[in-house]
Amino acid sequence: MKVKMEVSSLGQMQELAKAFAAALKAPMIVLLKGDLGAGKTTFVKAVAAALGSKDEVTSPTFALLNTYQAKNFPIYHFDMYRLESAETARELGFDEFFDKTRLDGVVFVEWPENVEGLYQSVDFEVTIQKVDDKKRTFVISAKKD
Ligand SMILES: Nc1ncnc2c1ncn2[C@@H]1O[C@H](COP(=O)(O)OP(=O)(O)OP(=O)(O)O)[C@@H](O)[C@H]1O
Ligand SMILES: [Mg+2]
Repeated sequence: MKVKMEVSSLGQMQELAKAFAAALKAPMIVLLKGDLGAGKTTFVKAVAAALGSKDEVTSPTFALLNTYQAKNFPIYHFDMYRLESAETARELGFDEFFDKTRLDGVVFVEWPENVEGLYQSVDFEVTIQKVDDKKRTFVISAKKD
């Protein structure tokens, strides 16, 4: 399944994030694609808020992983921008978050292209394209079933 939508403001993006959040449960893996500044981190922030997290959502560019506590499960927010390969990610122990038999939360991955091979069973892929300052095109595809 694949849906395409255009949002014209942060408010509309938050509405979309809320609808998307309703489809999430643990364990799930969500890949976030799109250029620098497309809105990947901003989308995770809106989804985490919709899932009842009171934690501050920031870009994990340097930390690589931020964890937030949502109402019903933890959110693991990765930014693989600075990683070179799945192997580097495995060396850091990140593979355990991509094992569905052990995963207790929902994983979000920015720059998943950099760690191709680390993840197998992806639930959603969200691609964000910047149209202009406020406008974004979202393509959300459900990857299984
Ligand atoms: N409709 C919108 N949806 C999402 N972000 C928007 C929207 N309109 C404006 N923005 C702005 O675009 C910027 C997106 O930055 P953000 O850090 O989320 O991008 P990113 O895709 O995570 O980039 P990076 O690859 O550097 O991590 C933010 O400043 C945000 O406020
Ligand atoms: Mg980001």
